[in-house]
Amino acid sequence: MAVIEVVQGDITLQHTDAIVTAANESLMGGGGVDGAIHRAAGRRLADAGAAIGPCEPGDAMATPAFDLEPPVRHVIHTVGPVWEGGDYGEAEVLAACYRRCLEVADELGAKSVAFPAIATGVYGFPAEEAAQIAVATLRSSPTGVEQIRLVAFDQQARDLLVAALAQDRRGVPRDW
Ligand code: APR
Repeated sequence: MAVIEVVQGDITLQHTDAIVTAANESLMGGGGVDGAIHRAAGRRLADAGAAIGPCEPGDAMATPAFDLEPPVRHVIHTVGPVWEGGDYGEAEVLAACYRRCLEVADELGAKSVAFPAIATGVYGFPAEEAAQIAVATLRSSPTGVEQIRLVAFDQQARDLLVAALAQDRRGVPRDW
């Protein structure tokens, strides 16, 4: 059973075996957290992403971490859903992102993984529901990962993730 923790900070500074980026389907980099990770990992990340992409929404693929500081060895690229109001399977795709990232981490033998708040920026997914989906999915997915770090970029995101962790412990029913 993985330990799940919430931190506030920059995911490029996290000392975990793998870090997850909220990518677009090309895997060649973009803005937001993807831009930050590509800047930190260096130009080889975009080349490696292009070599294995495109990546479907809800799927996840890994590359080396290149110039990111050890112990980070892997970048797991996942593509979140673009929010279109909630009736187009967005919740299921977001849950799939978290599940697939853990599957890829297991294939890599990664024991610690840092996640950003996937899809809650440019893709517009409501942050509170996204936090609940992240926690519930990570809690219910069998994995060999021992440490899961949810990295909030600001206080509001942090508070939502902390609340989602507490709420999930109380067993709130969910439908995704
Ligand atoms: N560390 C941690 N979290 C970060 C960082 C960072 N350095 N920078 C941004 N974030 C947070 C944002 O505050 C947001 O909560 O990451 C979350 C995800 O936002 P986006 O990066 O916009 O990702 P997403 O909403 O999934 O949109 C993906 O944006 O950058 C493009 O190429 C990307 O097309 C893709 C789309």
